[in-house]
Order: sequence, then C-alpha cells, then structure tokens
Amino acid sequence: MTTLVVFGADGLLGRALAEVALPAGWRRRLVGRRQADIRNGGQVLSALAGLSRAVVVNAAAYTAVDKAESEPELAFAVNRDGVAHLAGHLAVLGIPLIHMSTDYVFDGQRKSPYAEDAEPAPLSVYGNSKLAGERAVLRAAQTNAVVRTSRVFGRHGRCFPQLVLELGRQRHTLSMVDDQIACPTPADDLARALVRMAAHMIAPQDAGRISGLYHYCGEGPVSWYDFAAALSTRAEQHGIRLSPLRAIPSRDYPQPARRPSWSALACDRLRRDCGILPPDWRQGLSEYLPGWLDV
Ligand SMILES: NC(=O)c1ccc[n+]([C@@H]2O[C@H](COP(=O)([O-])OP(=O)(O)OC[C@H]3O[C@@H](n4cnc5c(N)ncnc54)[C@H](OP(=O)(O)O)[C@@H]3O)[C@@H](O)[C@H]2O)c1
Repeated sequence: MTTLVVFGADGLLGRALAEVALPAGWRRRLVGRRQADIRNGGQVLSALAGLSRAVVVNAAAYTAVDKAESEPELAFAVNRDGVAHLAGHLAVLGIPLIHMSTDYVFDGQRKSPYAEDAEPAPLSVYGNSKLAGERAVLRAAQTNAVVRTSRVFGRHGRCFPQLVLELGRQRHTLSMVDDQIACPTPADDLARALVRMAAHMIAPQDAGRISGLYHYCGEGPVSWYDFAAALSTRAEQHGIRLSPLRAIPSRDYPQPARRPSWSALACDRLRRDCGILPPDWRQGLSEYLPGWLDV
C-alpha cells in the first residue's frame, strides 16, 4: 500500500486532494494544521509515523498575500523555515515531497509564458517567502519536486469566483483589475495532476526522473476582469445576473503587496515528463458553478 500524505489538508487545494480519486493500492493520510503545524518538528514526525511507502504533497502555506507585507516574520517562518524542516524530516525518512509554489515568484515583466528555468524575481514578501521555501525543498533532496501554479479555484475553500458571485449580487457595479494577467487553475485538475506526479515519483522505473521545478496552470492567460466576465456569462446561463463589470487598472485598486502584471506559466515540462496537459479552466468554472450557487 502506498500513502499519499497531504499537509495543509483543510485548505483549498488540500480539500481537493482529500476527494481526488487515487490509483489502486493507494490510500491517503490527511494532515491539517490541527494535526501538524509544519513549524513543529514533533507534530510533523507524528503525522509521518508508521509510513513505509509514501509521497507527501505539501499544500500547507501562509497564503495571505497582502497581510504578509506587515507580518514578514510569520510568512517566512511558515513558507521558508517550516517547509525547510518538513523537507529535512522527509529526506531523513526517504519520503519524496511535492511542494506547492506560486507564479508570484516572478516579476511579470515578460510577455511570454515563464518556463521553470526563468529567473525568479518576486515583488512581494509572500513571493519571496515562497521562493525561499522552493529553494529549501530542492536543496533537501534530488527526488523532491516543486509545482508552481496560479489562481487556483475549487469547490471548497475561498476563491476568486466565489467572491465575484458574492459581490456581484450585492453591488451596483464590480470593478475588476484588467492589467494583471495569469492562468486560472481548477483545484480538481491540479489535485489529479499531483496524484499522477506522485505515482511517477514512486514508480521504480521512474526513480529520480521526476524532480525539480514544474509548472501547472490552466490553458489561456486572462486578466481578473476577463476571469470575472467568464464567470458572469456562465452565471447568466443559470439565471443569475451579476452586476456589470468595469475594467480598472491596478493603480485604481491599491493593495499592500505588488503582484506580477503577466505571469502565465509554461507547463511543457510536466507534459514531457508525466504526460500531464494543462486543464481547461473555463470548463472548471462551468463544473463548479452550480455548487457555488447552492451555498
Ligand atoms: N490559491 C491560489 O490561488 C494559489 C496560487 C498559487 C499557488 N498556491 C499555492 O498552493 C498551495 C495551496 O494553497 P491553497 O490555495 O490551498 O491555500 P489555503 O487555502 O490558504 O490553504 C493553506 C493551508 O495551510 C494551512 N497552514 C497555514 N500555516 C500552516 C502551518 N504553519 N502549518 C500547517 N498548516 C498551515 C492553512 O491553515 P489555516 O487555514 O488554519 O491557516 C490552510 O489550511 C500553497 O502553497 C499556495 O502558496 C495557491
């Protein structure tokens, strides 16, 4: 029996990983913050006790992008130091790790998709703390993988489309930033991709082949405005008319953390190494919408 261990199991991605189908002969162990704070070595070791054959996916992170600007110590304590400790324990136990990271490690100055070897240059405390975590994971063992993704939305947990649905029913108009472009990613597709990666990582014939940096995001970069418009069109098909959208530049929506203006990720490496294709995020929107409207 192989165990998929999920740290951060109560978060948006963690909850998708809690529901994703596993291959035959696999079971899962879900570890939320209550079971193990990744900064606490004792709790991490208890969460890993008794495993023989396993792959860990770390979806635990400090993810409050704006708040991180005013509490950088906490962001780094979780995203760099906690992750480094987790990776260190796993290296000793010989358990491979897939660690989640973000497009916010890039500065957004390019206008073509970022490959894994593009030079990172984070604009925010959050982006810097995530980059430091990536480096700790890749230093710890050659068999670890880091998966950068962007704009994840899912059935469970707080995400952008849910916010648009909520505000679009309360306000007269919805102002949406149209000069930050990236690729939305459905959480279920991401969870399926991670399970497939995990299966490759533990397969004897693939030993050591799946490691290092990978990118995974939906096909087709869009602005927040375009993302909201795609949702609005689908909501209308369900008889829900959201308030009209208004495109605004980032300077009219000041936020504490700077974000990259263009951060589409090139996903070719995952396609080549594991045969995993970028998902259709518009289809993900259509699938999740009825569930969001039920809440
Ligand atoms: N969502 C996105 O759009 C997006 C985009 C790019 C990359 N990512 C990356 O994808 C991963 C998963 O993100 P997500 O959207 O699922 O985030 P999320 O919903 O905020 O989930 C993160 C989880 O980590 C937990 N956590 C925080 N500090 C912890 C600690 N010290 N020890 C153990 N658990 C801790 C949180 O618990 P509490 O709720 O109790 O704090 C939460 O359950 C992260 O690495 C994130 O950087 C996400």
